[in-house]
Amino acid sequence: MNYLDALHYGNQILKLSKIKNYNLDTEILLSKVLNLKRESLLINLQNPIDKKNFNRFKKLVLRRGKYEPIAYILRKKEFWKNTFKIKRGVLIPRPETEIIVNEVLKLTCSKSSKNFLDIGTGSGCILLSIIKERPYSYGTAIDISKKAINIAICNAKMHHLENKIKFINIDIDKLNHNKYDFIVSNPPYICNFDINRLENDIRLYEPIVALRAGLDGLSEIKKLIIKSKNLLKHNGKLIFEIGFDQVNDVKRLLFNNNFYLNKICKDYQNLPRVIISTKQF
Ligand SMILES: C[S@@+](CC[C@H](N)C(=O)[O-])C[C@H]1O[C@@H](n2cnc3c(N)ncnc32)[C@H](O)[C@@H]1O
Repeated sequence: MNYLDALHYGNQILKLSKIKNYNLDTEILLSKVLNLKRESLLINLQNPIDKKNFNRFKKLVLRRGKYEPIAYILRKKEFWKNTFKIKRGVLIPRPETEIIVNEVLKLTCSKSSKNFLDIGTGSGCILLSIIKERPYSYGTAIDISKKAINIAICNAKMHHLENKIKFINIDIDKLNHNKYDFIVSNPPYICNFDINRLENDIRLYEPIVALRAGLDGLSEIKKLIIKSKNLLKHNGKLIFEIGFDQVNDVKRLLFNNNFYLNKICKDYQNLPRVIISTKQF
């Protein structure tokens, strides 16, 4: 059996499970088992694969066939310019969340020393990416999930930023002290009803605490805005991700809580996704 035969096997299994990009996923999994770059795999398709490696590959393919996301199988995910460790129980970073990082970088200069708070840090991807680009800044990252905080600490160590960020395993409701220049967040924003309609990859594997936000999908965004009133300095910025259909509700919440709405950023599908606002009292 050669690499090409193994790929055919993987493609068949994943196609049966209706995995969207089954070709790509099969190649990624075989590359992982063979410890090769995808490009090297593809130019050496006639190379033989031994039984031990084929069995390891088969196991990974079967996991993917049950909709386990590639990032959980590989235990890592690329975000912004870096790789982050990921495991079950911690949300997989999404490309649209990079908009938050990009907007913060536009609002700060490389020498600026700002105090950041990341609410619901997950893998730590947002704050770690920011602090890597703004080395004179520092911050605090909180999450209600112990698993998430532990992974975020691992990622901070991996990127040599553990001395710049304090990690706290706490519910946003219980955070009371300090004043921040920036609060960044990708809060849960999916309403209870929509949770059961999510794709299998997400619904069966990603942590519900990272997704579910009550009957209207706004419960965590409401908390975030109300809490930020006390936690931000005067003129401090609150930058956060929202669901594409939440923009009007979020505008109202910001207005009712005396925030100035600076900007609504669209995602790669041209849908409203990130809000930039300023505490103006
Ligand atoms: C959508 S995920 C975002 C994770 C990460 N920031 C990212 O963008 O990939 C939301 C995170 O908020 C955390 N979370 C949910 N409710 C929370 C609460 N009440 N207090 C603190 N963190 C909370 C979840 O555990 C989860 O890690």
